[in-house]
Amino acid sequence: MEQLNQVLLRDDVRVGADLGAWLAHGGGEGLTKALRDPLAILAVIEQAGLRGMGGAGFATHRKWAPVAAAAAGEKYIICNGNEDEPGTFKDRYLLEHTPHQVIEGALIAAAATRANHVVLYVNPHQPLSLNMARQAVQQWRVHAQFAELERLVGGTISLDVIPSSGLYIGGEETAVIASVEGGFPFPRRKPPYPAEHGVHGSPTIVNNTETMAHVPGILRHGAQWYRSLGIGNAAGTKLYSLSGDVLRPGLYELPMGTSLETLVFEHGGGMLQGKEFKAVFTGGPSNTLLTKRDLDVALDFDSVRQRRSRLGTGAMIVVSEGTSIVRKVAEYVSFFAQGSCGQCPPCKGGTFQLMRLLSRIDTGRGVRADLEALENLCRILPGSGRCGLIDGAVTVVESSLQQFRGEYEALLIA
Ligand SMILES: Cc1cc2nc3c(=O)[nH]c(=O)nc-3n(C[C@H](O)[C@H](O)[C@H](O)COP(=O)(O)O)c2cc1C
Repeated sequence: MEQLNQVLLRDDVRVGADLGAWLAHGGGEGLTKALRDPLAILAVIEQAGLRGMGGAGFATHRKWAPVAAAAAGEKYIICNGNEDEPGTFKDRYLLEHTPHQVIEGALIAAAATRANHVVLYVNPHQPLSLNMARQAVQQWRVHAQFAELERLVGGTISLDVIPSSGLYIGGEETAVIASVEGGFPFPRRKPPYPAEHGVHGSPTIVNNTETMAHVPGILRHGAQWYRSLGIGNAAGTKLYSLSGDVLRPGLYELPMGTSLETLVFEHGGGMLQGKEFKAVFTGGPSNTLLTKRDLDVALDFDSVRQRRSRLGTGAMIVVSEGTSIVRKVAEYVSFFAQGSCGQCPPCKGGTFQLMRLLSRIDTGRGVRADLEALENLCRILPGSGRCGLIDGAVTVVESSLQQFRGEYEALLIA
């Protein structure tokens, strides 16, 4: 891809925690424009078509608008850098290499909403991210633009780095809020949504780290520029965490809407050791699998959704023929079972039962009744938890049963 089209991963912005270097490369210009015309920020974000990169692809301006409209008072902006899902490694890269880009995005969100608390919520299992974020916020706190932002908001602004719990469940937005309040990261049911009832009951925005990182460029270069970076109707660029059986796994920033085939075979160099492509666990391992017939799919939120999957975080875990889908699914479901917080018995018990059945089948001890029990669980479990963990676990099991049922059957002993 042309360097020109890279926004987040440009070599010249990998300046680490050096704010001076970030500003010397055009950093801060987005915030300057935002401070000059704060009332226009929301419209620019809307016109740019920015959507959340943390999983659901929710329109960012729709998340910001109710917080901007809320009465003056305590308001929180949280940049979610928990990132504990297998196969996703983009947020840590941004925090390690361009933390100022992320912070500038969060400060622009504060300008748009008149928020007086900005929190970078960072996974402590990624100590370099944590360290970089801490160094970076210290520099912003004494920078002139920060003082200007405080004048706009009408009081002091707290800008803090808070280590996350480092638990998978701790990345769910209501769990993030509980954790920022100082409690255990237990998710709660929504509504109320964070915009109405967030940290200590105050209006709160929780955005993914990558979402925040896109914001300074949009303000600096304009909505049309951002839209033009994507392919077709898709706007902007996207970070894809490519892993698994490909020759060149890694983090790629590509136009939103790049095809799966281009990502895997052009950028990823194709399959390892001439292996045959089989499937992709897409957007993290909690979505419907994409298979050979989906190689042409454009990797943007809507096109992936049309294939009944989700772009999610942009994680793409590629598996080759010869790799057991049952084993992979068993591994991921075991991750979900361990990650379940235990508040909702159907989630804790359900993920454990899924794991037990998958393990029996995978290790050649399964019978037909186990397969039927697996299918039954896929029918009854969705929607039984207060957050999306159980639904994600069921989706990957159900999808593998639909698309690779023969593999399950071949492993049964009776
Ligand atoms: C179990 C679970 C874990 C999650 N973990 C993360 C995470 O680590 N980082 C993240 O940004 N979003 C995570 N999410 C999604 C968040 O709840 C939320 O949708 C996201 O932070 C919103 O940001 P966005 O609008 O910028 O995408 C998780 C969701 C669930 C259900």
